[in-house]
Amino acid sequence: MKQRIEELKKSFGEALALSTDSASLENLRVEYLGKKGHVASLMQGLRDVSDKREAGQLINAFKNEVEGKISEASEALQAAIIAAKVRSARKYNPTLKPERELGSYHPITLATREVEEVFVSMGFAIENYDEIVDDYKCFEALNIPKHHPARDMQDTYYLDNGQLLKTHTSAAQNYIMKKYGAPLRAIFPGRCFRNESTDACHENTFFQMEGMMIDEDISISNLIYFMKTMLSEVFHRDVKVRLRPGFFPFVEPGFELDINCEICGGAGCPSCKNSGWLELCPCGMIHPNVLKEGGIDTEKYSGFAFGLGLTRLAMMKYGVKDIRDFNSGSLKALSQFKSI
Ligand code: PHE
Repeated sequence: MKQRIEELKKSFGEALALSTDSASLENLRVEYLGKKGHVASLMQGLRDVSDKREAGQLINAFKNEVEGKISEASEALQAAIIAAKVRSARKYNPTLKPERELGSYHPITLATREVEEVFVSMGFAIENYDEIVDDYKCFEALNIPKHHPARDMQDTYYLDNGQLLKTHTSAAQNYIMKKYGAPLRAIFPGRCFRNESTDACHENTFFQMEGMMIDEDISISNLIYFMKTMLSEVFHRDVKVRLRPGFFPFVEPGFELDINCEICGGAGCPSCKNSGWLELCPCGMIHPNVLKEGGIDTEKYSGFAFGLGLTRLAMMKYGVKDIRDFNSGSLKALSQFKSI
């Protein structure tokens, strides 16, 4: 009898350790304490035992132990269930973002941030600038005197007080040169406006990212290096660039910087008008007149400037075919980008 009880104790201990939910605990209880359970059959076995007193005590002790352990285990289980419930109720955290998405970033914002990040890592400061400027800042300080034919390409919206909506981010060049002096490295993204009839590639409101670097011994190689690095980072590939001559009164020499077409890989396709190249970034060495107007010593310093078409960059990066989508306010089009 004693040995039988020892065996049962052992197998009960093992079964108890495996009973981790209330159903298996209940099964265990029935198996040991039920009408046809092990304890009951031990009691029946008493009949054939000579020392009934001692055996009876052993059975009783075993029965109490089983009862005690099962109720202990089921109490612990209940406590764990309650603790889990409390924990999940405490999951509320007012600082967590709601499950329903509230919005997403505009693709122009995403492109701007990406370009900013690259330039900041190369030591450029980010400047912000007004959208309403005067004629001096937008044109005259940039070597575009009144009645200069270069103004024709940049007709804009004039206010009654003579101010105008800036036609390009270059309008901040003079202000930034005066603010920092030389040497300087700055980028300044901004919204620009032109009197333009709109179609899939033209908008009256668009974004540019201007950049300037002024220091001793700055040359076209520096310009190419910075543009290539930035574009390779933004497009996540090794971007090939080419420079073509371009005319802007505030740079000398001036260039149009093209990159090899992302879509066809340079073989020629409708997006690049079969040339394999996409025009992306006018740039050049800052004209001495512009440096002088900004108070920079042209004997000592030279610099480059570029006017990256941010809107165009976003179109290429995200495959947006119609520029008008950007200002459409259409959530269907705009909510597809990274959410907040
Ligand atoms: N501001 C010029 C434009 O919008 C672009 C440009 C910027 C060209 C800087 C050269 C240097 O057309």
